[in-house]
Amino acid sequence: MRAKIIGTGSYVPHSVLTNSDLERSVDTSDQWITERTGIRSRHIASPGEGSSALGTKAAASALSCAHLDQADVDLIIVATCTPDMPFPSTACLIQRNLGATAAVAFDVSAACSGFLFALSIADHYIRAETYRNVLVVGTEVMSSVTDSTDRTTCILFGDGAGAAVVQGVDGENGILSNHLHSNGQRWDLICVPGGGSQQPLSETVLNERLNFIKMRGSATFKLAVKMMEQAAREALSAHHLTIDDIDIFIPHQANSRIIEATAKRLQLPMERVVMNIGQYGNTSAASIPLALDEMVRANRIKDGTRVLLVAFGSGLTWASTLIRW
Ligand code: UT7
Repeated sequence: MRAKIIGTGSYVPHSVLTNSDLERSVDTSDQWITERTGIRSRHIASPGEGSSALGTKAAASALSCAHLDQADVDLIIVATCTPDMPFPSTACLIQRNLGATAAVAFDVSAACSGFLFALSIADHYIRAETYRNVLVVGTEVMSSVTDSTDRTTCILFGDGAGAAVVQGVDGENGILSNHLHSNGQRWDLICVPGGGSQQPLSETVLNERLNFIKMRGSATFKLAVKMMEQAAREALSAHHLTIDDIDIFIPHQANSRIIEATAKRLQLPMERVVMNIGQYGNTSAASIPLALDEMVRANRIKDGTRVLLVAFGSGLTWASTLIRW
């Protein structure tokens, strides 16, 4: 029994925030943002539009692509670091929105690596034959934790969602392996320190803007390149493959320079590397399924295509998933 992705979907909110919009609100420039990050625009959710709203649209699109009905879904796993509310889980809200009443639903928190962590859980449940049809969603409203006055972070993040329907099937194709890693020692490289149980929302938290992302950009950058390279090599060596065996490489979209540096270290030509950060910015757990859906819809991924997904994010967390489509 293998876990196979039989449908993908994605959704981004309509409103677009461009670099020139940001030039008007913080001390930055289109040239700096484009050259240092590759980002030109990002989509921003409307007031009241939470992660469950975006995730529901991506999930409905993935179900329709998979020709499955909501009643067929056994399990919904949602990766998000921007849940609608502390509880209930965003997965339960998506279950309600879809009317997938038979499905068990829960969230996974692994920031930008969340989608791969969730996919790995789906893979294990399917191979254990506990569940057959699993909906895996990565959805984020990063604008809800982005400090619009901090030029070092507000230029980076965007909102969006991506989803995959994973089904247990017989045969050779499907998810070949997952490799997950965490290092809590470096928790403070990217975090939202306030607004949780340790420092609940208070006047101090709000005044010190602790309910927004704090990031040590350059240290994070270096580790992102190193760990994404390591994660890719670990997946290749587990299957005795070389980088030439990979048809499509989908890295987490945090910065075009991180993606290019990782590809260079792996000696992977950019034609086989997916990069859509220019349009969406860093959408955290949504970035990989969003890019995956674009590749599926563009017919770049077909039966037998070898796809390597690699992520890195807060935690720290990093991961890879190797798929023979
Ligand atoms: O998804 C999770 C993983 N996240 C990441 O992997 C993000 C990793 N980090 C990055 O992408 C990059 O570190 C940034 C894009 C955040 C920053 O780029 P950088 O090349 O590392 O710049 P820097 O932080 O070293 O800053 C260089 C200069 C500084 O000025 P001084 O001190 O040299 O005078 C910054 O103040 O650029 C300045 N700067 C800006 N200037 C114009 C920082 N942000 C901006 C800005 N516009 N938006």
